[in-house]
Amino acid sequence: MKDRYAVIGNPIGHTKSPLIHGLFAQETGEDLSYTALEGPVEPADAFAATVRAFIAAGGKGMNVTAPFKLQAFALADERSERAELAGAANALRFEGGRIVAENFDGVGLLRDIEVNLGLPIAGKRVLILGAGGAARGALLPFVAARPAELVIANRHVAKAQTLVAQVVADSPLLACGYRELAAMGHFDLVVNATSASLAGELPPLPPGVFSATGAAYELVYGKGLTPFLRLAREAAVPRVADGVGMLVEQAAEAFAWWRGVRPQTRAVIDRLTVPLD
Ligand code: ATR
Repeated sequence: MKDRYAVIGNPIGHTKSPLIHGLFAQETGEDLSYTALEGPVEPADAFAATVRAFIAAGGKGMNVTAPFKLQAFALADERSERAELAGAANALRFEGGRIVAENFDGVGLLRDIEVNLGLPIAGKRVLILGAGGAARGALLPFVAARPAELVIANRHVAKAQTLVAQVVADSPLLACGYRELAAMGHFDLVVNATSASLAGELPPLPPGVFSATGAAYELVYGKGLTPFLRLAREAAVPRVADGVGMLVEQAAEAFAWWRGVRPQTRAVIDRLTVPLD
């Protein structure tokens, strides 16, 4: 029997994960199956039962998407440091009766920015918008990339402050509200980790946060020019990107974690890229 993997979410119809992992398996010659599972939202313990049934049927690992990332984290017997800070899991591995939780969203994002977009973070001024799950998942990999400054801006400043307080004391981290950004000059990289774009909204960014030599990154993918990316374009930011590369890179990290071989990502990113305009 083939080793079984799946992505679990609800809704799950839009997922690109079976396509991505199918292409990875083809390219690396790994013999596995990868499907999409619509997880049950109710009753509360149904998610755990679904995961356990998948393990009993030969499941070796899962990707986890909304709304199950917190439940997957809670279900695990072991959790990586990244998953701990995010308080959420986007990948699970099943080994010897144990469930291990990881969160590759942040490393996937960093790899896309540094390797695919060619923008090394070391020594740069970085601004992350938002302090929800997406920002939490990205934080440790950003700190590890040694930016000169890492500012987390959120409407509810206390949420950004709580997040910053959880990270090692000697990192160049600062939490603030959007108004305070006006006095902070421009940033080499601005990452939109809010959920504003999903509602067609724009975080209240003061003019001047973007750099004419920098980059703007939107975690949402496949939605064309979101209000955030449009603003970046208007500010003549030379490099603007959506999250398609992050999506493929986090998948590659999970694949490598499960199978011990890292697939190539360029062709898969190109295949999934929807032009911004
Ligand atoms: P999750 O944890 O699932 O990612 P969340 O905790 O609701 O979701 O986080 C969403 C993030 O997007 C939050 O940082 C939220 O800001 P607040 O914490 O201040 O609410 C941010 N967000 C959502 N809509 C926004 C908008 N229109 N402008 C700015 N920030 C927004």
